[in-house]
Amino acid sequence: MKNYDVECTWHYHNGTKHPNGTLLSRSHTYHPALRPTPYKIYKNIQKISLSLDKEPIGISALDAISNIYDSKVEIIPDLNVLTRILYFSGGITKKIKFPPPIGEFEFRAASCTGALYHIEIYVVCSDITGLSAGVYHFDPKELKLNVLRKGDFRQVLVNATADEEFVKQAPVTLIFTDVFSRNSIKYQAREYRHAFWDCGTIIANTLSIISAHKISSRLISGFVDSQINNLLDLDSNKEASLVTLSIGCTNKPIPQSPTLVPINIESASSDSDVDYPEINSMHDASSLCDTIEVKSWRKHFVKPQYAATDLISLRTETLTRDTIEKVILRRGSTRAFSHDSINFEELSTILKRSTNGIDADFLCRNNILNDLYLIVNKVDGLPSGSYHYARERDSLQLLRKGDFRETSGNLGLDQDLPHDASVTIFLMVNLQKVLESFGNRGYRIAQLDAAITGGRMYLAAYALNLGATGLTFYDDLVTNFFSPHAKNKDTMFMIALGKKAKSS
Ligand SMILES: Cc1cc2nc3c(=O)[nH]c(=O)nc-3n(C[C@H](O)[C@H](O)[C@H](O)COP(=O)(O)O)c2cc1C
Repeated sequence: MKNYDVECTWHYHNGTKHPNGTLLSRSHTYHPALRPTPYKIYKNIQKISLSLDKEPIGISALDAISNIYDSKVEIIPDLNVLTRILYFSGGITKKIKFPPPIGEFEFRAASCTGALYHIEIYVVCSDITGLSAGVYHFDPKELKLNVLRKGDFRQVLVNATADEEFVKQAPVTLIFTDVFSRNSIKYQAREYRHAFWDCGTIIANTLSIISAHKISSRLISGFVDSQINNLLDLDSNKEASLVTLSIGCTNKPIPQSPTLVPINIESASSDSDVDYPEINSMHDASSLCDTIEVKSWRKHFVKPQYAATDLISLRTETLTRDTIEKVILRRGSTRAFSHDSINFEELSTILKRSTNGIDADFLCRNNILNDLYLIVNKVDGLPSGSYHYARERDSLQLLRKGDFRETSGNLGLDQDLPHDASVTIFLMVNLQKVLESFGNRGYRIAQLDAAITGGRMYLAAYALNLGATGLTFYDDLVTNFFSPHAKNKDTMFMIALGKKAKSS
């Protein structure tokens, strides 16, 4: 099975490392004026206008981030709730005017590398209150649903996921796709990492809003790729499904699905037509071809445990009641950090709330795949130095005491943000172990898992009125810095936390 021929992942991962990845051209340039249209536009298609209720429902962001519901009680989101889920995941939340040629720029609910917004969201549902069964594309610009197929097509999802139990009971499933060239225009072949980073930050928001509504959900990453792509009628050389999220629970059995025919709907976006074959190869190599492969792939990963010494227990949390909706609307990537410290209670809150686990088909409950490594530049109550987060023990393990501010800036691609932040956090995974269990597709879930945690950290930081930004990094320098503890681990995601500088 090609999924377990993991040479492809190593070729891609090593080839897209900063600074000298062989799959990246150092002379490549990108000008924001060339930015592709950041959403898909369907022509000559029925559209359904959505009416959005942004009013908070009263759940604090910190609770929404960390609570996970696994109810078997029937709960079916209606169109109002679905609209809120879509808007707070991928909706346009603010507009900023920049000098020409950029002009007005629309920002979304979740952070995204280069603000290129290459992740699209689709809905597959049964009849729910306010919306008939169908397959829809979410249009964030017009706040509408594009009707791709009418009828209940959920059985296609059940087949594609080899009878996954949660998919069978879910009235609604979201599918997150990636339009490759919309991001590779700037980031070249490294785009395939960004696909999961930027999908993960969106999903962090999606999970929070779903949990605020006390609805259960499960991420499903094991499916027959071609079947899901066909359902959405995608040209999979340009756009492909990354992951699905099943939401809610219904006791009604799923009917036989209507026949799946190509829909041939014209869609347009000004995506760049420069292709990066390494992205297609990596996606292809991590695709699952049939349900037999999906079934054997879906086994639980046992997370390695570390005997931690020199532990510093996390502090009592700092709680705020700011609602999840309010926090999503005020989130934005911090553009400059002051050198002021945050305190250990705030850091403890962010760590605890964002690592409470993900309900997914690749994890045991309450688990995450990635390990967290920290550089503490300035945190009241915690000595500066490098740390490993011993999640199971609610503690930080001091690796090296000292002032590593210069290193922190250096590891984050020599930018000011990681230098000036109070803390930088690296989500790292033993990639070889993940690939042994999950094959090339393990690369997808390792990136996604890290990005969901990163997205939750963004929200937790903003809930505490702190700043945060995702960052890119020099891969091997990070591993070297945290070794020997992080020997054999690769970085999947980096985030900086701190106090915003007054000017930002
Ligand atoms: C994974 C990830 C990596 C990022 N890397 C950088 C970076 O290296 N430097 C930077 O200035 N911003 C970085 N950003 C921030 C994005 O530029 C920002 O999210 C985007 O412009 C959208 O703005 P917003 O987050 O304020 O909504 C990153 C964001 C993410 C999600």
